[in-house]
Amino acid sequence: MHTITLIPGDGIGPEITQAVKDIFAAAQVPVQWEELNAGQTTFDQSGELLPQALLDSLERNKVGLKGPLTTPVGKGFRSINITLRQRFDLYQNVRPAITTEGIASRYSGIDLVLFRENTEGLYSGLEVYDERLGIADSISRITLEGCHKICYAAFAYAAKHGRKKVTLAHKANILKLAGSMMINACREVSREFPDIIFEDKIIDNMCMQLVNKPEQFDVIVTTNLFGDILSDLCAGLVGGLGVVSGANIGDTTAIFEAVHGSAPDIAGQGKANPTAMLRSGLMMLHHIGEAGYADRIEQALNATLKQKDKCTGDLGGKASTSEFAQAIIDNLA
Ligand code: NAI
Ligand code: MG
Repeated sequence: MHTITLIPGDGIGPEITQAVKDIFAAAQVPVQWEELNAGQTTFDQSGELLPQALLDSLERNKVGLKGPLTTPVGKGFRSINITLRQRFDLYQNVRPAITTEGIASRYSGIDLVLFRENTEGLYSGLEVYDERLGIADSISRITLEGCHKICYAAFAYAAKHGRKKVTLAHKANILKLAGSMMINACREVSREFPDIIFEDKIIDNMCMQLVNKPEQFDVIVTTNLFGDILSDLCAGLVGGLGVVSGANIGDTTAIFEAVHGSAPDIAGQGKANPTAMLRSGLMMLHHIGEAGYADRIEQALNATLKQKDKCTGDLGGKASTSEFAQAIIDNLA
């Protein structure tokens, strides 16, 4: 039995995490949940955005499944997601993008995984604003160690999953020093994986190629800001934010999350699509060595996606969140 920290989140978070809990229970997945919240919900209750009890739970269990969190708008509220990433050194942001029958997309045959460096670059929090001079500096700091670690993670994943190619996206033609450091780090790592093709592309060309011919990509690795943008672009290629999963992984701790937000416009109405959250849960099962359960649930999900009427409105169906979850349970082989 695995103990997992479950963060229901704000808005639609509780509805989609309930769907995942129900499906996991029906499939008799050997996990027990330690449920603790954060975000707007706990802020309203106790004035705490990220309660210590939740941090302690993640520290203990090393694995979390997280619903979307609302960070209150305004000065002094640091993004909870960024805080968690820094706190547990979750330096890999891993986002698969796969075209799936039953999920509308302009493309077919996409099966790629994006590795985004998750703690450095423009997200280091190094900002200086000189009001008098009207100058704002946002410092993008990357380290050689950080470059090595994310590139190694991408190649190790490729090797483990029988993937053929790793593409590095960068801007070394302009960012001469930082870009070159990333390329060199990745090239050095690539020598340890002679069976995997290594190529690099400049980020703007990369965007064009992804939109034009996404099937050519396999594993993509990049720095924080480029990865943030590319990962949403990739989500758009395969059906949007409601269906793609994500993971924040470090050497000791990992937090899995749907990449969409708390969707306040549909919260509490039973309209939310639980697919992204469920797929994040399945990534989590692979991570904790329960791939068999993940495969079985994935097959049930894929079967349900082909039954339009059993799906939620965003997928063209009429079912509620819980009806969709029940259909997945009914399809468990
Ligand atoms: P959003 O992703 O919550 O919503 C964008 C649109 O997509 C809305 O129309 C929403 O109804 C729809 N949508 C999102 N998820 C869906 C699902 N599972 N099923 C069906 N429809 C879905 O983005 P928005 O509106 O920009 O952000 C709302 C709040 O979420 C903000 O407070 C933001 O800070 C937070 N947020 C949190 C994230 C996280 O915790 N990982 C990520 C992104 C935003
Ligand atoms: Mg983003």
